[in-house]
Amino acid sequence: MSHIKKFAVIGNPIEQSRSPELHQAFAKKENISLTYDKIYAEKSEFKSMVYDFFTHHGVGMNVTVPFKEDAFALCDVLSDRAQAAKAVNTLWSKDGLIYGDNTDGQGLVDAIHALGWPLAHAKILILGAGGATRGVVLPLAQAGATQIVIANRTYARAAQLVCDLKALITPSTILTACPIDQISGQYDLVINATSASLSGDTLTLPKDLQFNYAYEMAYGKASSFLTHAQQRGIAYSDGFGMLVGQAIVSFEIWNGCKPKLTDFLDLK
Ligand code: ATR
Repeated sequence: MSHIKKFAVIGNPIEQSRSPELHQAFAKKENISLTYDKIYAEKSEFKSMVYDFFTHHGVGMNVTVPFKEDAFALCDVLSDRAQAAKAVNTLWSKDGLIYGDNTDGQGLVDAIHALGWPLAHAKILILGAGGATRGVVLPLAQAGATQIVIANRTYARAAQLVCDLKALITPSTILTACPIDQISGQYDLVINATSASLSGDTLTLPKDLQFNYAYEMAYGKASSFLTHAQQRGIAYSDGFGMLVGQAIVSFEIWNGCKPKLTDFLDLK
């Protein structure tokens, strides 16, 4: 039997995925032999392709858009992070069962730590209340944030998210919702988890909103949020570190060793 471990990422579209390149770079650093393929799936064949992969000795699979919720639904065993996120981006199989985790939030936490920005005792504002936000609140709370405000254009979505997540985080983090046009005050960190920059929209932030660090989850796109931060002299970063970070946490789950995030930021 071959000692080369078999991995893949599944999505639709899939051509743009950087995961094979990242995982090969981690493997090289850690002296591990692996294959890491891109798998394109139609919605109707997602489930059977996952089962097929693990039946044929696949070790681990990443899941990307639009299948993270489908992956969540097919798992036999889910981590706390995956349950909070209601989405899975990392799959593996053990004793005939499929396990699922969500590494996006820890990837964000690790990327922020690598920048040297503080999360312990931090007051954090997250813009947006979609899947991207749902995936990161629990790990940010576990990293020691004392306050997390979720601000959204559609207030009801932020309120619903806070209601869902409150039961899962400890009372040491205060979690609240706010309409995006009513944000004000002072924050340590603002995270843009809206899809505004992906769709080329401009996000207008109130002039009296003050913060020290700006993190944009997207990367490779013009971001009005980052331009705003840059113009005001606020420390800022795009989401490439988070992309590397989530891949490293998946790699660690599957291979038992954790490459150093800062060794791979030049792959951008
Ligand atoms: P994802 O899974 O990437 O989070 P999503 O579930 O479609 O994607 O959520 C997109 C988020 O970006 C939502 O919070 C959306 O706000 P609404 O809930 O009000 O739709 C937010 N968003 C997208 N474009 C925006 C814009 N131009 N201004 C403000 N918020 C925007």
